Amino acid sequence: MLIYGPLTPGQVSFFLGIIPLFASWLYSEYLEYRKNNTASSKLHSDTNLVELGNEAVKEDDKAVLLEGGALHSSSPRPRTSSVTSQLIRFFLMDETFLLENRLILRAISEFGALLFYFYISDRTNIFKESTKSYNRDLFLFLYFLLIIVSGITSFKIHHDKSPLSGKSIMYLNRHQTEEWKGWMQVLFLMYHYFVASEIYNAIRIFIAAYVWMTGFGNFSYYYIRKDFSLARFCQMMWRLNFLVFFCCIVLNNSYVLYYICPMHTLFTLMVYGALGIFNKYNENGTVIAIKIVACFLVVILIWEIPGVFEFIWSPFTFFLGYSDPSRPKQPLLHEWHFRSGLDRYIWIIGMIYAYFHPTVERWMEKLEETEVKRRISFKTAVTITSLTIGYLWYEYIYKLPKNTYNKYHPYTSWIPITVFISLRNVTQSFRSYSLTLLAWLGKITLETYICQFHIWLRSSVPDGQPKKLLCLIPEYPLLNFMLTTAIYVAVSYRLFELTNTLKSAFVPSKDNKRLGYNAIAALVIGSAIYTLSSIFLRLSQIMI
Ligand SMILES: *[C@@H]1O[C@H](CO)[C@@H](O)[C@H](O)[C@H]1NC(C)=O
Ligand SMILES: *[C@@H]1O[C@H](CO)[C@@H](O)[C@H](O)[C@H]1NC(C)=O
Repeated sequence: MLIYGPLTPGQVSFFLGIIPLFASWLYSEYLEYRKNNTASSKLHSDTNLVELGNEAVKEDDKAVLLEGGALHSSSPRPRTSSVTSQLIRFFLMDETFLLENRLILRAISEFGALLFYFYISDRTNIFKESTKSYNRDLFLFLYFLLIIVSGITSFKIHHDKSPLSGKSIMYLNRHQTEEWKGWMQVLFLMYHYFVASEIYNAIRIFIAAYVWMTGFGNFSYYYIRKDFSLARFCQMMWRLNFLVFFCCIVLNNSYVLYYICPMHTLFTLMVYGALGIFNKYNENGTVIAIKIVACFLVVILIWEIPGVFEFIWSPFTFFLGYSDPSRPKQPLLHEWHFRSGLDRYIWIIGMIYAYFHPTVERWMEKLEETEVKRRISFKTAVTITSLTIGYLWYEYIYKLPKNTYNKYHPYTSWIPITVFISLRNVTQSFRSYSLTLLAWLGKITLETYICQFHIWLRSSVPDGQPKKLLCLIPEYPLLNFMLTTAIYVAVSYRLFELTNTLKSAFVPSKDNKRLGYNAIAALVIGSAIYTLSSIFLRLSQIMI
């Protein structure tokens, strides 16, 4: 077996950390099995009353211990003091502790196993690799096949009522945004798989649309729910960065290689900041207008004035720097500048749309009530205007060559997005349709984005762009595509679920003290293991 590149302290730490957890999970499964076995044999034997009595005492003991501190307990008593005691119980291999946390240990082990599969697939030569090739016919065939299959199997009409009046279908509902994410994500991924470089500009628009949704979704959430709590904030950061953090460690990659993650994190933080500061005054329209102008000014300051970007971000080069092995001459912050710059304005546009969303919705409801003739002529006018604008944009902007296009992109990406939104919502029935298969894919976009680098495509070296394909069935490119895709989508879905399971285990919603203890414990244990691993590696180098 050939391993590309030497092991890093991070990789050794991951290994050292996951092994004991894996072992304790196996042990906890064994305990569970034994418990169930004894329990069922008890049920069948009513002879040994003495033993039964003993067992009852033991059960009581267990109940007391259970009270003592389950990670995941629903008991209302706060368990702040128990982080250290839980760790002690873990190190002592306390049986009840293992039984209580069996499912969490199982989730952690599964997570570890999946990352191990990432490593095997991407950094060893156990599996082969093949080269990418593009054939427009095949590309479109596969894509439309998926759309047709989704249409046949998962076409759905929603009857969600608008919260305002209970009358019509909401115009930017969740089904639609998820479906939208889904079909864009499929094109985005296939673009990587088949190097469909001719749709480069379209891909830029899709990414802008995701960032638009970040602005839109987060603005609506914070504006309506007003939940600026620390717990909620941490949960969101966990959702965005948990998987990518471990991928960076296990595969020794830079954060910015997975540029979607830092970009969404940044813009989510910006929206959070924009609404969180002086959030008491958010009811006031003038304050929101001032905040939005301030957002524009901040973006102009950072991205449009030469030198400011480097000045602001250079202290963060240690985690935002990226050097592509095939282009080692580029400045470390180049990739971050390029990626974050492309979509620097669109999140603000998303915020503005979210702010006016209730107004537009009310207005559209009124329109639905007017007489047929007026309604139809109005809708026709909207459709024709949108199509004309869309066409002009396509002719004069979209068709530009890649580099020129990128220059215009930050200022024009709102045009196709707006055109799409107005066409997608033009009639009430059209608004209520969605393809749930695509919406399902839209839920796991973050995971499919991250996983593609390692178990669908292949980069082989740390920080490398995924230029090759993972090949499980050599010589049969289409069969291989089918198999790797099936595994890849299943793994992405599992990782989505595991991220959520572990989030609810480690980021409690209503207990900031325990959240703090968990964070400190993670930091202390992480640093200890990291130090230990560095020492190990040093020693092994000296010995060799
Ligand atoms: C229109 O459709 C989009 C996406 O399909 C949806 O997210 C949005 O809320 C709708 N908005 C309006 C104003 O029609
Ligand atoms: C905020 O944006 C992030 C990134 O797109 C997204 O994952 C998250 O779900 C959004 N939050 C809300 C409440 O919509």
